[in-house]
Amino acid sequence: MAWKTIDDVGLAGKVVLTRVDINVPMEGGHVTDATRIEKIVPTVEDLIARGAKVVLLAHFDRPKGKVVPEMSLGHVKAALEAALGRKVVFAPDCVGDVAKAAIAGAGQGDVVLLENTRFHAGEEKNDPALAAAMAELGDVFVNDAFSAAHRAHASTAGLAHLLPSAAGRLMEAELRALEAALGNPVRPVVAVVGGAKVSTKLDLLGNLVGKVDHLVIGGGMANTFLVAQGVEVGKSLAERDMAATALEILAKAKAAGCTIHLPVDVVVAREFKAGAANETVPVGQCPADAMILDAGPKTVAELSKVFAGCKTLIWNGPLGAFEIEPFNAATFAAARVAAGLTREGKLVSVAGGGDTVAALNQAGAARDFTFISTAGGAFLEWMEGKELPGVAALG
Ligand code: 3PG
Repeated sequence: MAWKTIDDVGLAGKVVLTRVDINVPMEGGHVTDATRIEKIVPTVEDLIARGAKVVLLAHFDRPKGKVVPEMSLGHVKAALEAALGRKVVFAPDCVGDVAKAAIAGAGQGDVVLLENTRFHAGEEKNDPALAAAMAELGDVFVNDAFSAAHRAHASTAGLAHLLPSAAGRLMEAELRALEAALGNPVRPVVAVVGGAKVSTKLDLLGNLVGKVDHLVIGGGMANTFLVAQGVEVGKSLAERDMAATALEILAKAKAAGCTIHLPVDVVVAREFKAGAANETVPVGQCPADAMILDAGPKTVAELSKVFAGCKTLIWNGPLGAFEIEPFNAATFAAARVAAGLTREGKLVSVAGGGDTVAALNQAGAARDFTFISTAGGAFLEWMEGKELPGVAALG
């Protein structure tokens, strides 16, 4: 691969500006899911072990170029110290004298955390002056923020052009997993794509049909494809104006030798709420006053066969309204089948996206997947076949 890793750059005695993504969910000033923080620990430890002074650059939320106290990375400091088991020195700006003083004052093995890069308007504009001010603070740039790599920002792309640069361990793991899943996968490959709307995943579907052997379409998106084929879906969520596009995708898939799998049976209800009365019917028999909220057991059985016949699986998006019971059943059951096949060494399974990872966690399936990406938007853009500026800048 074109990018360097931290094995390829000299780090002893160097100040290493390390871009991480610690944009974690918070409630009442407390981190509610520390996964992204925990995932950067190997990189930080590796850098320190090589004699580097680690300075973390990160964004938090979307302050849009202004100082928003609730979006200060100071709120994340305690969770970072807990995950690292090290003192974290916090600097209230990511450039300038306060940042320089914090770096100079940090002791051996301490980690410096600089304030939210997005407090500066230049961050999201990839302003060369801001990138240069950041570059002044260190000797080497390590990007460990795959999940922010779809942003061409000063601290992701800009900085990489100004200092010797390398991918951190998490970035490396993400890129290798994605390469194994879609770049250069062991075939046959199945992609599972779910979610509400075809219109938000057009680029994704268009790219996947040319790359995978099987494409499973689930969630509200599947309804749009059913409608396009003349199947009635009652009051289900469906983008009727996307019918022609759905037919184009089906034709493109056929030409490319990609088999598309849509539900063969569905779980329907009259209310969108947890525990709503429901029934399972063959697809095409959704009552006019009901809506499809999940795929049925026959669909899961078919998908299980598809998964068992494949060597690689990539998953983005749930098969049904997984956030309300019992409409999580198909997503959970299919996830457990994929997890089981992975455990048995028969499948390489990679998943990404906030909803998807939440669903796989709730199903107890995530721990058996080969790789769970920390990325949402970046994972999607990568699956769409787009170049990620943060990764490209490392090349
Ligand atoms: C994410 O949470 O997916 C990343 O941190 C990127 O955040 P953004 O969508 O605000 O750029």
